[in-house]
Formats: sequence, structure tokens, C-alpha cells
Amino acid sequence: MPKWLDNAVFYEIYPQSFLDTNADGIGDFQGIINKLDYIRNLGFNALWINPCFLSPFGDAGYDVADYYTVAPRYGTNEDLKRLFAEAHKRGIHVLLDLVPGHTSVEHPWFRESMKPERNEYSDRYVWTDSVWEAPENMGCLRALSQRDGSCAVNFFTCQPALNYGYYNRTRPWQQSPEDEGPRATLEAMMDVMRFWLTMGCDGFRVDMAMSLVKNDPDGRGTIALWQKVFNVLEQEFPEAAMVSEWGEPEKSLQGGFHMDFLLHFGPSHYNDLFRCQEPYFSDRGLGDASKFVERYLESREKAGKDGLICIPSGNHDMTRLAKHVEGEEKKLAFTFLLTMPGAPFVYYGDEIGMRYVENLTSVEGGYERTGARSPMQWDSCVNAGFSAAPKEKLYIQQDPAADRPTVAQQLPDPDSLLNFVKQLTQLRQAHPALQNRGGIHFVSNGAPKQALAYEREQAGEKLLVAMNPFREAVAFPYSGKLGEALFTFGGAASQKGEAVQLPPVSAVIYRLD
Ligand code: NOJ
Repeated sequence: MPKWLDNAVFYEIYPQSFLDTNADGIGDFQGIINKLDYIRNLGFNALWINPCFLSPFGDAGYDVADYYTVAPRYGTNEDLKRLFAEAHKRGIHVLLDLVPGHTSVEHPWFRESMKPERNEYSDRYVWTDSVWEAPENMGCLRALSQRDGSCAVNFFTCQPALNYGYYNRTRPWQQSPEDEGPRATLEAMMDVMRFWLTMGCDGFRVDMAMSLVKNDPDGRGTIALWQKVFNVLEQEFPEAAMVSEWGEPEKSLQGGFHMDFLLHFGPSHYNDLFRCQEPYFSDRGLGDASKFVERYLESREKAGKDGLICIPSGNHDMTRLAKHVEGEEKKLAFTFLLTMPGAPFVYYGDEIGMRYVENLTSVEGGYERTGARSPMQWDSCVNAGFSAAPKEKLYIQQDPAADRPTVAQQLPDPDSLLNFVKQLTQLRQAHPALQNRGGIHFVSNGAPKQALAYEREQAGEKLLVAMNPFREAVAFPYSGKLGEALFTFGGAASQKGEAVQLPPVSAVIYRLD
């Protein structure tokens, strides 16, 4: 288990939209390097960069055409190596995005695999043995070549599924994970990991980590596959950290992942908090966090004490936090995100409350996700300081509102969301009880019009974190004794007998005696 994960706080960068330094309208590695000090000053000490490899960009780079070469729009492999080195100088670890489930149709492996003659890559993808048979319950590509078969796709139809075998096999063309083809696919993916880890990257966010072995309803085959990967990784790269896009920590952490995300899909009730008609973090008080709390505790129990359950502020696949949680409510959402166990992940721009840009035409397979991928708003200069390219050339159009938030405007303002986030990351770094591995005990579960409150504990330190998003004061039963207030927003808590009362729209952190 990499030690650096004990207090890692991640910042996700969608590289297309972060900072463009060569005026082509698209962000680049040099842009990320230029902003490393900004990221560090905000208290983040780790990055996740979305896929930056050669690609036709049918799905924003999640359709890789060469796992070993970065896309020229971002720079060169040497530039990425420099990014790793510059990040490390500042104490920042860097995760790349590994897409093991599928490639682009342009990947040379797929071109070889489409050939009717058997070759080294014939079994690299999931093929049926007749063009007239489609794989069950999956989309597929048919009649693209002379090979007689249909090729399963893993996501969009431009993303043929790599072959890691079938757990339950009912057709002759379905291979076992132990067959030669699936084993070679896994070995090829391990080599990709070795290449970047040797170059200086610190691990991977793994795309659709749950999708590898097919016809695997309980995930047993995929869990076993990841256990094999981790046996090797732990030997060769013990400091490499891996976070899965799985959404079921009880499974992914069993596979060996160090961290799993709770996401907008899966059973976690994540959406109840930030992304539904009545989110818990809304001052209307109609939202309900209690199912989330229940599921969270179950997952934590099953996942064991070493795995980290990570709750992101958002990501490139969902609407922006600011679409559902407004004004000061965002500060309560961030209090939660930055005081929970597990490594926090903040999506670029969420720290200033960037808005979801409505009604954009899809860019690079983004569809409704496009509005959450608009270029970062740095200042009030042209294109909000993102790029010197003409406005029409920007990768995605920016928030057109005159009052769009920017970093430049929020940095000097002590009450800004940006400084709020900074204050909380600093508090987290200063208090072991607030860090990634500390324990948690809920004392109020965020039912409608109720506080969300929990004790955090580690290394002899015990704290109470409590939030009330509702526009009226609320109280919850509590017999612990509040000590020094480490943090208050919207007013202090008051303790009367066996109850703690919180002012309207407030968040507090107290030391417990
Ligand atoms: C999940 C990624 O986050 C998403 O952006 C992508 O479209 C799919 N996986 C397919 O790779």
C-alpha cells in the first residue's frame, strides 16, 4: 500500500480544457506545468490527468490508438516526463488514465485483428466466429472487414472490446481468462503500465475497471484478474497507486485496488447528495443523505480497513456540482468532500464553482457531458485566460455569463469558494483525524431537514464534523463534549445538554475532549 495515499488530495485535470500555451485552442502539458504552483497552493498534492494518448478522439481520448505515445496536441512524451518531474519537485504525485477495456478502431492491434488470416492479434479482441452472431447483451461491430465475425464493443461503437475472456462460457468462441489470447492481452496492458511507471508516473485511474472479464455477473473473474495484476505491480512498483472506476468498493478493493470511486452510477446513492432534483446539500432541506450513509457504511465494512472509498466533487462524465448545489451550499458540499475518509478528488474548476454550460453541441463524444468540460476560467482576459486562440477555435465554448467565476477574482477574496477549499485542504493536512485513513462514526445521518454529522478519529485525535445545509437551525442528540472550534462557517454550534444545535446553512469542526 503506497504510503503517500495516507494524505493524498487529488485534483482532476481534463487536459483539453485546462490551459493552452500554444494558442491552438486546446490545453497542453506546458499549461499543466505552468499551473502546478496554483494546484499546490490550493493544498492538492496529487493529480489525475484524463487520457492524453494518441487517439482519433471519438470519445475524448478514451479511444486510444497508441498506448505508448502522447497525443501531439498536448506535447511529446518528453514533455509529459518533464511534467512528472516538475510535479514531483513540488510534492505532487501524478496518475495517468489507463483504458484497459477497449481501444480505438484505429489501434494497430485492431487493424491486425480484423484480418481474416490468423495472426498474433486475432484473439486480442472479443470476436464471435460468425458475422451473423452478435455477442449477447453487448453492442458490436460487424462487416468492417473480411474477418467472419462480430467484434464486441465496450462503450461507444468506436471502442472495440479487448479480450480478457469470459467468466461463464456458453459459446465456443468465448475464451477463458486463462487462454492464450486473454493472457496476452493482460500482459500487453501490464507492459503499458510498466512503460509509464518507469517514466515517472505514480499510478493510474483505471477506466471501466469492472468491465474486463465478460459474462461475469458478480465480478469474480474481473476481481481475480486484478488480483493477478496487483501481485506483479506490488513487486515491481510498490509505490504505484491505483484508483478504479468501478463504483463498488467491496469488489474493486478486493481486486487489490487501493481506491475506488463512488460515482453517479452504481449503488452508492452518491447522486442524492449533489446531483438530483433535491440534493441533500440544498438549503430547501428536502434532500436526504441517509441512504447514502447506510450504503457507505456497508461498503466500508465489506471493503476492509485498508481500501479508500473516494468521493469526487464531480468529473468529466457528470454535470457540474454547481448545477445542482448553488451559492453558499457549495461550501457545505466541500466541507463534506474534504472531511470524509478516502482520498478526496476535486474536478478542475469546481474549486471556483464553474457552471455546467447548457446547450452545447457535443464535442469529441461528450454529448451532455460537454457542458462539464468547458475550458478553465482563470481571469477576466480574453477567453478567461485559457487560450490566446480566437474564441471560435476553443476546444469547447466557455460559460458565456458575464459573472462567470474566475480564479483571479476569487484568489484575493477571503470569502470565496476557492479560499474555502484551500482552508479545508490545509486543515485536513494539519489533522490526522481528517485524513484518508481516519475512522468515521456518524452521529446524524442527514435525513431531510437534519444535520449530517460524524466523528473522525485517528492517531489519538478525535473531531466532530457537522453540517446543516437547511435554511433553519437544526439540532441533533449528542453526548460527546465539544472542545476547541477548529473551523466554523455560518456560525458556531451550541451545545445544550445532550444536543448540539447548528445555525442555518452552517458547517463546523470541533475538537472532542
Ligand atoms: C468512462 C470514462 O470516464 C468516460 O469518459 C468514457 O467515455 C468511458 N469510460 C469509456 O471509456
